[in-house]
Amino acid sequence: KRGGYDHFMLKEIYEQPESIVNTMRGRLNFENHSVKLGGLSNYLTTIRRSRRIVMIACGTSYHSCLAARDLFEELTDIPISVEVASYFIDRKPPLFRDDTCIFVSQSGETADTLVALKYCLERGAMCVGVVNVVGSSLSRLTMCGVHINAGPEIGVASTKAFTSQYVALVMMALLFSEDRLSKLQRRQEIIEGLGTLSAKLSEVLELNDVIEKTAESMKDKTKMLVLGSGYQYATALEGALKIKEISYILAEGILMGELKHGPLALVEKDLPIIMIATKDKLFDLVSSSVSQVTSRLGEPVFITSKNGPRIAEHAKSVADGKNDADAKADYVRFEVPETVDCLQTILNILVLQMLGYWLAVKKGYDPDFPRNLAKAVTTR
Ligand code: UD1
Ligand code: M6R
Repeated sequence: KRGGYDHFMLKEIYEQPESIVNTMRGRLNFENHSVKLGGLSNYLTTIRRSRRIVMIACGTSYHSCLAARDLFEELTDIPISVEVASYFIDRKPPLFRDDTCIFVSQSGETADTLVALKYCLERGAMCVGVVNVVGSSLSRLTMCGVHINAGPEIGVASTKAFTSQYVALVMMALLFSEDRLSKLQRRQEIIEGLGTLSAKLSEVLELNDVIEKTAESMKDKTKMLVLGSGYQYATALEGALKIKEISYILAEGILMGELKHGPLALVEKDLPIIMIATKDKLFDLVSSSVSQVTSRLGEPVFITSKNGPRIAEHAKSVADGKNDADAKADYVRFEVPETVDCLQTILNILVLQMLGYWLAVKKGYDPDFPRNLAKAVTTR
């Protein structure tokens, strides 16, 4: 019943090279670099004219919004805010008719998100859904939207919904900025990146065996940090959520720029610190965070770019005066293929999904049914 896999979660992790293609099917044209989202066609003028976009969601779906914010800002030039639905409802912030609110939910039945939707509808804002389950409350109650078409997600820990939500949001950002000539080249680069993503996801899945072995050696740890910056901040938060919700290890996602403002005090020998260090424009900042961690004997585990700069070795050789070759063997590193900066999240998160999965399994927990949690949180 789990298609030959021990758990739904692993099956769903392995489905991602296919599920992201299903999200793009019929919507992206790779020849003329265009995007069509049938559900939004009649609403584009209103959305493009909005004075603000507010993204609202919970848990993993919130992380996909956070991950997409940078690109929305870059491509649309519309101010974006990202809201955790329950906190948004607690505050009841000002909201206007010329705001566009985007609600992201796998199930489409999350109570907090639905209450936030009601609040925004009552204020006359344009309410757009990004939903997996067709016919769900959120899909029906929003004015328009996009189904992510990832297929049923059974595991409580969300995996393929995250990557498909992110792809759907990237396509939205591309669509909203279609009329902006200055973004033409950037948009083409991203569309081409989306075209080669599935094969790269399959490559990341080949890391499964080494991730399993690493999980075996990490399973008795009671805490760990997951560090990221820029696009990878959301990846760090989502990776930490995956680890904590199924392996019950206290994992915290931290923005690298915040390290010196407090969390650095936690760093000591034997504390596992997962550092997302794939190559992008913030590489220097990442390199400096690596030095901050290694010089305090923290135990980094790297997610880096295949054939990319040897960040750990570089940072370590600077710190200890060792040469690169000596340092190279020291740390665990998961190497993932490179893609366009804003799509790297999709490849990197897979590593953390697999790590969370294997930590749970090695500790004897069922990753499909974490204690105290339900797949859809339908009460507030
Ligand atoms: C639609 C069909 C798809 C078909 C395609 C052919 C459905 C569900 N989808 O896909 O089977 O292959 O046309 O062109 O029949 N919506 C919301 N809120 C949401 C999500 C969606 O209101 O959160 C609305 C959309 O605005 C749209 C409708 O639901 O009116 C279907 O959305 P979607 O499935 O994303 O549209 P298409 O991709 O065009
Ligand atoms: O169905 P939704 O996307 O609205 O659910 C939101 C969260 O409850 C959900 O993403 C939750 O955080 C997952 N269990 C995380 O894996």
